[in-house]
Amino acid sequence: MASAYAIQVRRPELELAGLPRYWFGGDPFKTHFANALSSVFPDGEAWFVRSVLHYRDRIEDPALLAAIRDFAGQEGEHARHHRRHVEVLEAQGYAAIPRLNRWMRNGLQWLNRRAPLHSLANTAALEHLTALLARQIMTRPAAWTGEMEPRMARLFEWHALEEAEHKAVAYDVLQVVAPRRGLRVAAQLLSTGGLFVEVWLRTAILLRRDGLLLQPRLWLGGLRWLFGRGGLLRGYGRDYLRWYRRDFHPGQIDDGALIEAWRARVG
Ligand SMILES: [Fe+2]
Ligand SMILES: [Fe+2]
Repeated sequence: MASAYAIQVRRPELELAGLPRYWFGGDPFKTHFANALSSVFPDGEAWFVRSVLHYRDRIEDPALLAAIRDFAGQEGEHARHHRRHVEVLEAQGYAAIPRLNRWMRNGLQWLNRRAPLHSLANTAALEHLTALLARQIMTRPAAWTGEMEPRMARLFEWHALEEAEHKAVAYDVLQVVAPRRGLRVAAQLLSTGGLFVEVWLRTAILLRRDGLLLQPRLWLGGLRWLFGRGGLLRGYGRDYLRWYRRDFHPGQIDDGALIEAWRARVG
């Protein structure tokens, strides 16, 4: 099946210089959690693109080939803007983040060479997670981007829209190359765990840099914000678990109306 939605490569102009240190509601926990998430994108998404392009020669469907090209275009732009954000973080004194990214880049390039199929399967798995995140951002923008500094809100909203648009591409390529449920299940378990560890590790590193790592009240507030009633990470379970179904396809989660509305909003 070719990609579910039209994929449009947008090239927004976003200058992030002068970003306030606590750009998410003036709150260190919220900001560093979002910094952690944002900072895995540059090298993570470059890896996604390499993983998918590796199998381009195996694809015959012209619609899927066109979708692969546009997917690579979108992810390239996302990586570029999130890399700018990492540069801002470095300038603010969080040098551990670009250092982590260099290790991550080397590790992922090694994976591309040594385990191309697992790279593709994990890309498809992580694209399911970014699609769920995108769906949440577009469904509940007040909770997600409402408190963000306007440029970061634009970055997250634009990124969310495009993640929804191209969410089926890596999956469709995987279905051509290796349509095996076992591989898909293993990749999702690994990807979910890996992303979880990566984001918490980075959040902790960033808070430590500010001398805030061991503040129970800050963590309690942060965890409530994420997992409490109406929390940012609540409400994903049902859609997340659909991945593990035998007949799953990303298109079964209908983002059509959301995408339509957000195309007008993002422009
Ligand atoms: Fe992306
Ligand atoms: Fe993506």
